[in-house]
Amino acid sequence: MMVCEYKPGLEGIPAAESSISFVDGQKGILEYRGIRIEELASKSTFLETAYLLIWNELPTKEQIAEFEEEIRMHRRIKYRIRDMMKSFPESGHPMDALQASAAALGLFYSRRDLHNPIYIRDAVVRLLATIPTMVAAFQLMRKGNDPVRPHDELDYSGNFLYMLNEKMPDPLAARIFDVCLILHAEHTMNASTFSARVTASTLTDPYAVVASAVGTLGGPLHGGANEEVIQMLEEIGSVENVRPYIEDCIQRKAKIMGFGHRVYKVKDPRATILQDLAQQLFAKFGHDKYFDIAQEMERVVEEKLAHKGIYPNVDFYSGLVYRKMGIPTDLFTPIFAIARVAGWLAHWKEQLEENRIFRPTQVYNGRHAVSYTPIEQR
Ligand code: SDX
Repeated sequence: MMVCEYKPGLEGIPAAESSISFVDGQKGILEYRGIRIEELASKSTFLETAYLLIWNELPTKEQIAEFEEEIRMHRRIKYRIRDMMKSFPESGHPMDALQASAAALGLFYSRRDLHNPIYIRDAVVRLLATIPTMVAAFQLMRKGNDPVRPHDELDYSGNFLYMLNEKMPDPLAARIFDVCLILHAEHTMNASTFSARVTASTLTDPYAVVASAVGTLGGPLHGGANEEVIQMLEEIGSVENVRPYIEDCIQRKAKIMGFGHRVYKVKDPRATILQDLAQQLFAKFGHDKYFDIAQEMERVVEEKLAHKGIYPNVDFYSGLVYRKMGIPTDLFTPIFAIARVAGWLAHWKEQLEENRIFRPTQVYNGRHAVSYTPIEQR
């Protein structure tokens, strides 16, 4: 067997062949199925992008109409799922609630028919349709309210904002939210996608695949960073405090949330688009001082850490957008999951097409031939 060098974090080691997305981390390029993210953000919708990621082609008019209709028909969650969620502690993190609820879907759809395209399509539709409903339902129920039923006249993002806020969404906010979903939908072999593919490779059901990926996304080094960015901006509090805060982080070797990336050594192209979306929202709904703090952070981090390739990543500006929409901070990562489910499902499907179970090796650095010490002699 070929002996490979151990790389912590598997840096630079390909874990799969994939045609779903592409990143050039030196040039700051991201493509989904060959199409630049900037183009999708300005011209596509989240559901169209999800279709592209999962089925490898942009849908025709008929195909997208049919897909949207299927999603619309499956947005409601079963009352048993709702009742289960009602019993979750209000203090629980919405990501944990989402992980448990996504896994619970597997209890209702336990038949597994992984080679059948109809089964794949049903699972894709069900997951894309119900995950936003579950996120919104937990938010309302933890406040002691009943969840809001999905609104059949509203599109994917508009409906999510409606279920969350119990009122008709502002059209600009709904469009900007939809673009945020496009930007978060897929990103090559990131940690949660890798997790999804490992789980998929055992030929388990897609609900377990998504639940394991949700669990992985939640950590502060991955999707959870968007929540921590807002806490950091609040802690900094003013533009004047930015420089000392960053100098202190650098001195303590603490990670600055929303900055740095394993692959990008320039500014994440998604951060550039999100920064622009934040500005559009502020122009309509009023300025936010945290945006000034964020801009100053970007300037100071660039001055101090550009030589290490540390620039804003996708999680840096997204929170400012969601915050301006009045979305609670601990829903930012579940919203990332709502979008990323498209990418996870595309990878689930791709993994099944040429599956081999993931079973890497390890470099054993423990002891050998140790004799058992009886308890009274330890
Ligand atoms: C996402 O992989 C993806 O594609 C993920 C993602 C997606 O769409 O799926 O893009 C989404 O997860 C975005 C990343 C969100 N996380 C954060 O914002 C947390 C803060 N960032 C980091 O902890 C870090 O940059 C990572 C986790 C994103 C990347 O980690 P790496 O590749 O393991 O890098 P590293 O921790 O080994 O750092 C390399 C060097 C170190 O300096 P030296 O010891 O070499 O001198 O860069 C420095 C680090 O100290 N560094 C930072 C830094 N990130 C890296 N220094 C200060 N602040 C930071 N944020």
